[in-house]
Formats: sequence, C-alpha cells, structure tokens
Amino acid sequence: MQEQIKEIYDKTAKEYDHLVTPCRMCQFLTLIYELNLRGNEKILEIGSGPGALSIQLAKLVKNGEVVGVDISESMIELANAKAEAISLRNIEFVCGDALNLNFPDRSFDIVVTSYLLHWIPDIRRFLHEIYRVLRHGGKLGIIAPSPNMYGELRRAYRRIMKKYKRYYEGTVIQEMIGLRVYSEREIQKLLCLTGFEIIKSFTMRFKEPLTPEVYLKRVNAITDEKYLDPIPTKLRSVVREELMNELSEMSKNGLITTECSIFIIGIKRKEKHEKLRLCNKSNPCRTGA
Ligand SMILES: C[S@@+](CC[C@H](N)C(=O)[O-])C[C@H]1O[C@@H](n2cnc3c(N)ncnc32)[C@H](O)[C@@H]1O
Repeated sequence: MQEQIKEIYDKTAKEYDHLVTPCRMCQFLTLIYELNLRGNEKILEIGSGPGALSIQLAKLVKNGEVVGVDISESMIELANAKAEAISLRNIEFVCGDALNLNFPDRSFDIVVTSYLLHWIPDIRRFLHEIYRVLRHGGKLGIIAPSPNMYGELRRAYRRIMKKYKRYYEGTVIQEMIGLRVYSEREIQKLLCLTGFEIIKSFTMRFKEPLTPEVYLKRVNAITDEKYLDPIPTKLRSVVREELMNELSEMSKNGLITTECSIFIIGIKRKEKHEKLRLCNKSNPCRTGA
C-alpha cells in the first residue's frame, strides 16, 4: 500500500502543488493560528507534500527549526527546491515513513500533519509514533479531511455509476480516494487513547468557485484517478466524459466546491501508562464515535 501511495504522489507532485496547495493556504494559516507559536519551537510536519505548511511555519519560528517528512521523493525534492528558492535556512525536508519516524524520543515541541490521516494504514501506530517523538507538553496539530469531502465528485459519480454498477461491486468509493476517512469524534477518541489531551477541535467548510475542468484535475492530482480503477481500460474515456458532463450540469450556476476539514490541537500530557486516567467522563474516550 505504501508503495502505491508513494507512486501516486511521485507522479502528481507538481500538479498537486499547482492545483491543491493554493486552496489549502487558508487552512494552514488557521492551524498555525491555533498553535500559538512562540517563535523558537522545533517542529515536525509528517506528510509534508510540497512543503507549503512547513515553509509558513519556518518563516514564523525564526529561532526554531522545521523538519518535513514525506514518503514521496518527488514531493521532498519539490519542497526542498521551494525552501531553497527563498533562502530559508531553518528547514529541511527528508524522505521517511510516518509509521517509522527516524527521530529520537521527545525530539520535537510540535508535530503537525495535514491531509495525511486518510492515507495511513495503521492509525494507532502512527499516533504512537507522534507521541514518541513529541516532548512532554508538546503540541500536535492535525488537519484532516472530514467524511463529507469530495461531495461534488461523489454526487456526479453516483449518477453515472448506476450504469457501471457491476464493475464496482464490493468496492467503496471512499476507499478509492483515500484509505479511511475518520470523523472528528473518531480522531478525538484515538488521540485520547494515545495519551493526548484535546485542547481545541472544530470542523470548517472552505468554499471555492471552480470550473469543472479544474475541479476534476484537482481531484486527479489527489487520487491519480484511482476511482476509475474498477472500470475496464477501454471504457474509461467514456466514463471520464460522462463525469465531466455531470459536473458541467451541476455547474450551470457555477460550481462551488467545498473542502470540509477537521482541525484538532492536542497536547502530550502524560506517558502512556497514565493515559487511562486522562479519559474521564467529559472526555471523548468514554463516548461512542
Ligand atoms: C494529500 S497529500 C497532503 C500534502 C500536504 N500535507 C497538504 O496538506 O497539502 C498527502 C501526503 O502524504 C504523503 N504520505 C502518504 N503516506 C505517507 C507515509 N506513510 N509517510 C509519510 N508521508 C506519507 C504523500 O506522499 C503526500 O505527499
């Protein structure tokens, strides 16, 4: 699976940066605001992609440093080139896997991650890795897609898929555009079980007008068209056209795309053996997801 994800982003890195990064900037600034930086922190971003969030952070922590980790070499090259182009010295991007972070215990003040959670095959292990590399009292900032994302694609898709139902038997569209999308409540619960105290959590919608062509290009920069995998190759160009027609139909009055994102800030309070005591009645650990 890691190989497949790496393949997608090695292929789409530049397109991703052109089409997706600009629409994420206000989300990055929202997360940064919530982190309440002092200016001297050592920060790790996991799944840093083209590096925009890390670069913003490095500009703000003038007496600190930022490390971005990503599994895709193309993303790392792109991010390093962008940091070099503006002569940013307190930042580096390195290749690595979120599930096996190559850093000592308690080596960061802050860990951030944006739009990575849905690609992680073992989320508990991932959160334990974050917990391990954070110092006590360190902050974790997450931006994650909410289960409502790609609403327009799913609507257009549902309409045309009636015709192609037999190819999709046993598949879930959500799984073709990311492994598993968690709700805000589920993420809170998982964080709490790992030993984090949640200090802020909210979901925000970001609306943006786009042409259907740019919309689909953007979706493909994220998914590498995995949602067409079950369709036989010779039928794919027809399906592409039908999808575009549906999106054009929807966009008669302008296509407004909505990115729905979850923001969570957690603090590493206690070591793991004490985590259960953190989960009191008012805590999401106790309630259903
Ligand atoms: C949707 S992009 C998000 C990029 C950026 N954080 C943003 O918000 O625009 C997901 C990124 O996570 C990286 N990624 C996926 N699985 C990973 C893993 N196991 N370890 C490290 N990076 C991973 C991908 O290569 C890709 O660059």
